[in-house]
Amino acid sequence: MNPARGSLLGIEHLEAAEILRLLKFARRMNPDKPRPLLKGKRVLLLFYEASTRTRSSFEIAAKSMGAHTVLIQSAGSSIEKGESLLDTGYTVRAVGADIIVIRHPNAGAPHVMAQHIDVPVINAGDGLHEHPSQALLDAYTILRNKKSFKGLQVAIVGDIFHSRVARSACHLLSKFGVKIILCGPPELAPDIATTLAPGIRVTRHIEDALHGTDVVMLLRVQKERLSGLKIDLSEYIARYQMNQTRLKMAKKDAIVMHPGPIIRGLELTSEVADGAQARILEEVHNGVPMRMAILARAMGKMR
Ligand code: NCD
Repeated sequence: MNPARGSLLGIEHLEAAEILRLLKFARRMNPDKPRPLLKGKRVLLLFYEASTRTRSSFEIAAKSMGAHTVLIQSAGSSIEKGESLLDTGYTVRAVGADIIVIRHPNAGAPHVMAQHIDVPVINAGDGLHEHPSQALLDAYTILRNKKSFKGLQVAIVGDIFHSRVARSACHLLSKFGVKIILCGPPELAPDIATTLAPGIRVTRHIEDALHGTDVVMLLRVQKERLSGLKIDLSEYIARYQMNQTRLKMAKKDAIVMHPGPIIRGLELTSEVADGAQARILEEVHNGVPMRMAILARAMGKMR
């Protein structure tokens, strides 16, 4: 079965025009001025992995459009009893789900769900693969601050290898000709990442990545993800941590982004996280209108 219309499984195969339509519609969405576009609909939030921002903003987005939401997390549900992904999907469909939002540790899980279940499926992060709603809210945040993608340079610094956020961001930004520079040690920013999309360059030197950059996108460096890799965190801090001195190497009006959760003292200093150039909480805030647009599109209401 083809995925239901309105599904959002990834950015890679989404057309630039559709991305722009979503970004434009999100500008009209405001959770403080509810619009009943999803009145009476049921949005199932199926979370097989921890989440704070993504889950809460999908929930707030759905509710502010008049939908009911049901949260199913692996702990405390039949998932814990060993029920398969598809059986859980058939079950939530049978109880009357109109939209399924799913986060899963395995790449492709939302795609499998979408091939078997006749309701729109939204990927809220699948393994190391994609995180389309995050890429859209990041693009939305960039456009709110920089007006257009034209001539922009974005530096992505940190654990790119383990980041679905980075993968989706690269797919999205490269569709609009943004110059992307990935920066980190070879274990975290492998050279092969340049094949992800056109216009991507990798550097090991933070000053090289920051020079002429409009947007500094930092990624989480999570200890648990690094087992088996030769990464010395104190060396990472010495070479890549974003501090105020380094940030000065970027353009004067550069903004600092991070999908969260942030680890102060590792990926960035508190001075940068709380500084005037940080847009980290703005990203979280923008997640709500962006996800309102994604949910409206899922129900064919993005008009
Ligand atoms: C990210 C994720 O889960 O992929 N966070 C998020 O959704 N805002 C980033 C991460 O966990 O590294």
